[in-house]
Amino acid sequence: MARKMLVTGGAGFIGSNFVHYLMANTDDVVTVLDKFTYAGNEASLEGLPKNRVTVVRGDICDAPLVDQLVADADIVVHYAAESHNDNSLHDPRPFLDTNIIGTYTLLEAVRRHEKRFHHISTDEVYGDLELDDPNRFTEFTAYAPSSPYSSTKAGSDMLVRAWVRSFGVQATLSNCSNNYGPRQHVEKFIPRQITNILVGDRPRLYGEGLNVRDWIHADDHSSAVLRIVEAGRIGETYLIGADGEKNNKAVLEMILTRMGQPADAYDHVIDRPGHDLRYAIDPSKLRDELGWRPAFSDFEAGLQATIDWYRDNEQWWRPQKAATEAKYKQQGQ
Ligand code: NAD
Ligand code: DAU
Repeated sequence: MARKMLVTGGAGFIGSNFVHYLMANTDDVVTVLDKFTYAGNEASLEGLPKNRVTVVRGDICDAPLVDQLVADADIVVHYAAESHNDNSLHDPRPFLDTNIIGTYTLLEAVRRHEKRFHHISTDEVYGDLELDDPNRFTEFTAYAPSSPYSSTKAGSDMLVRAWVRSFGVQATLSNCSNNYGPRQHVEKFIPRQITNILVGDRPRLYGEGLNVRDWIHADDHSSAVLRIVEAGRIGETYLIGADGEKNNKAVLEMILTRMGQPADAYDHVIDRPGHDLRYAIDPSKLRDELGWRPAFSDFEAGLQATIDWYRDNEQWWRPQKAATEAKYKQQGQ
């Protein structure tokens, strides 16, 4: 029988990718619960089968609505969040509301209705690493979040662990590294630079651009989440990564070169306050215990496909571009 999945934040970048992934790889029926903040986009769910995907516009902090939707689901996969570090530095409050109170509201509902819960989180909860540190983050790394965003995600992880231990909630957690791929908001690094070039503007690199991110394709994040939902051990945390460490300067030069521009055709702008230096995931537990492997092993090929997607889907990103750049301009970035 088809499972009934409730996917929070399913109109955002990674949540919508997961819904597309479920449609292509399972018989599941999905309800998306999304507030449609500036980051939610109806167009990200276009073309999906109407008999298998229902979209509910609502807030994960709305306890009666959440209770009703959780009661009707078999499994809840929780992506909804305020997700952008730069925004959290200028207006932290929505991060506390959605990431903390929203997760609490969902946990209380899955507790009442005894439903399986999977919590989506980030490698940023572990803080950052030195460039020459031979270690990578593991499930045993101590939490040390740097920004309002990552501290609220860390808080949400702690709530999930407490609800497992204190109330026996059937939950798993995953902490993933930086995702790239289609349908990512133009505020984020890779889409911002691609769309700047497409509109004839110069890309913007924070500081010297030596900060390292561990890139993974959003499809690989989705396949890992589904594997954990189906086979993960209750109460466990799994780190998701695909050995994709690269510094920002190198990624930007790849984008420029692939888009026919000189590799140095960008501007340095002021750095992000408290900017994490390096993230790096050791995904051994997920690979050894659950046998998961990423499908996108060639970052440059995935990046090219992402560039092509933004070139071919201007109607998806164009409405958000001017407002996003106006906000960055105010911040000097
Ligand atoms: P996103 O900003 O693209 O999407 C977030 C979605 O949540 C949007 O559709 C938004 O409308 C919705 N939302 C926000 N507040 C809500 C609320 N109160 N109620 C209901 N819906 C609400 O984010 P993303 O990049 O797709 O990230 C999704 C999840 O994955 C987040 O939990 C994030 O912490 C995590 N994550 C992201 C990355 C990454 O590289 N982007 C990496 C690891 C983990
Ligand atoms: O590691 C997982 C995290 O990855 C997720 O939890 C977050 O939700 C997601 O937004 C992402 O966080 P980052 O802060 O790493 O992503 P962002 O795209 O904002 O920036 C990536 C890097 O690029 C970072 O070092 C800052 C830099 N940057 C960003 C922008 C927008 C620039 O140099 N120039 C830019 O214009």
